[in-house]
Amino acid sequence: SRTYLITGAASGIGRATAELLCAQGHTVIGADLKDSDISADLATAEGRAELVTRARELAGGRLDAVVACAGLAHADPLTIKVNHFGAVATFEGLHPLLASGTDPRALVIGSVDAVHPTDSAIVDAALAGDEEAAVAASRLAVDRGEGHLVYSSSKAAISRWIRRTAVKDDWAGAGIPLNAVGPGVILTPLTRPLLDDPETRRLVEQAVPMPLHGHARPEQLAPLIAWLTSPENTHVTGQVVFADGGADAVLRGDRI
Ligand code: NAI
Repeated sequence: SRTYLITGAASGIGRATAELLCAQGHTVIGADLKDSDISADLATAEGRAELVTRARELAGGRLDAVVACAGLAHADPLTIKVNHFGAVATFEGLHPLLASGTDPRALVIGSVDAVHPTDSAIVDAALAGDEEAAVAASRLAVDRGEGHLVYSSSKAAISRWIRRTAVKDDWAGAGIPLNAVGPGVILTPLTRPLLDDPETRRLVEQAVPMPLHGHARPEQLAPLIAWLTSPENTHVTGQVVFADGGADAVLRGDRI
């Protein structure tokens, strides 16, 4: 049995993944704003430090896998802070614990939204590790009425960070696969308000077409996350694995 740390474990995809791994007999340490083993706000430096300190205590100095599910989709700078910088801090902060684990694996929830239009000022600042500049660029996007770009930019940035980082010495060289899963629309509290309103529901269906099986439940995503972070995954790394009912194939078509 393995020890997993899951951020965003109190709801949606994180919770469904925690439930599956627990049912498989693994130990799961959950982290979230509240209602989890570790309470930490991953938008803040204190919260990110608290995650690492508490994880070290609870896990006894070693983790076998880290799954970063904490995130939000607000048209607001907070979205780049949590979705990109919170995830990067999770991986960098917990890397020493993973390095002491057995068959260590790491994964973040990206999104098919990463293939939608983005704001290059936000993405570039995020990849440069400049949180202040990324927040400022996000605020500018909101001010000119393009706040939706903050979310797609956060997902593009973390996807590219994964690809750049996965092949480095301390990840691939240390035998640690690092991947993203890119969902389409999953039925969680994050999307419920959008889908409950017929007007925004129509926009979501246009933006994320899912010809295979339509919108998914988080339980349908969890087995893929479990496999990518299991010892069976020996060679998949640096990937954004789209689990989106065909949305990426529709939206991106031949651009691969
Ligand atoms: P959710 O809202 O059900 O769960 C997200 C969890 O993250 C919540 O428990 C929340 O408290 C936690 N969280 C938010 N801000 C945090 C912070 N500052 N510090 C610590 N924890 C924080 O949402 P869901 O749908 O499970 O989303 C999980 C991830 O999947 C997010 O990154 C989201 O962007 C991504 N995703 C979701 C899709 C969907 O259709 N639901 C589609 C594509 C990606």
